[in-house]
Amino acid sequence: MAMTSSPGSITPAEVPAPYGNGPSGAGLPGSDPTEKPAGRIRIHHLQQAKDNGEHFAMLTAYEQYTAEIFDQAGIEVLLVGDSASNNVFGNETSLPVTVEELLPLCRAVARSAKRALVVADLPFGSYEMSAQQAVATGVRFLKGGLAHAVKIEGGTFYTETVRAMVQAGIPVLAHIGFTPQSEHSLGGYRVQGRGNDAQRLIDDALALSEAGAFGVLMEMVPAETAAAIDAAIRVPTIGIGAGSRTTGQVLVWQDMAGLRGGKMAKFVKQYADLRTTLAGAAKAYGEEVRAGQFPGPEHSF
Ligand code: KIV
Repeated sequence: MAMTSSPGSITPAEVPAPYGNGPSGAGLPGSDPTEKPAGRIRIHHLQQAKDNGEHFAMLTAYEQYTAEIFDQAGIEVLLVGDSASNNVFGNETSLPVTVEELLPLCRAVARSAKRALVVADLPFGSYEMSAQQAVATGVRFLKGGLAHAVKIEGGTFYTETVRAMVQAGIPVLAHIGFTPQSEHSLGGYRVQGRGNDAQRLIDDALALSEAGAFGVLMEMVPAETAAAIDAAIRVPTIGIGAGSRTTGQVLVWQDMAGLRGGKMAKFVKQYADLRTTLAGAAKAYGEEVRAGQFPGPEHSF
């Protein structure tokens, strides 16, 4: 699966070939242009990507149109992130968002994405208390949110939680390194796993993957540490601010497409300037309305 693309080069016609299926790519999701709809990306396809030394892309999505656009652009994994808290609901951090707020967003994304694997974040407070609580919340996201998998933040401490969830039939993506839900205990946005701390993250990744996590997402981890983790574990890794040697990469879509204003983290690359485009469109519309130029005869019945 040729899953990396140069900036701006992804078009629906270039939906990446499938994982591990050679140049012709027969038989796996998206491989046959006559196949409609393309098969769903599943967690074993992500594993095949790792096994074949290939890369895949993940973006956040929180509603219908972006889910549809990213899906058709060939993005393999959509994350209904708890970053909805500070990218949809107007909060400062990811902590306040609730299960009740995320579930309808997740349903909208899952209904709109025909091919991508849809992963939902379990919000802060919805899984930490016990493995039972995590299973119950995971079930809500798979049943009521129509998600295909869930993501939880945290290290070795969550080994038994992951095991219980996987046994209950809930695919789990583990999120280690900088975990935004713990930003107050981590002392803010700080790179994790530098120097001697690298071993702690390697141990986390080993424990969580051995407990059954289908992948390990690493946030703000030095590239060398991330590469060591990717080499140490069997399952695919996904990086955000973790260098280039992870199996997949993830970005928050409003950062990737330049919708969000303000200072960007070092790891963000902006592939568009939607904020300027949208502001220009809104300004032009407002001016035309005020000048009596819109609607014109062509827009009137
Ligand atoms: O919620 C989110 O957007 C995330 C990414 C930072 C990976 O967890």
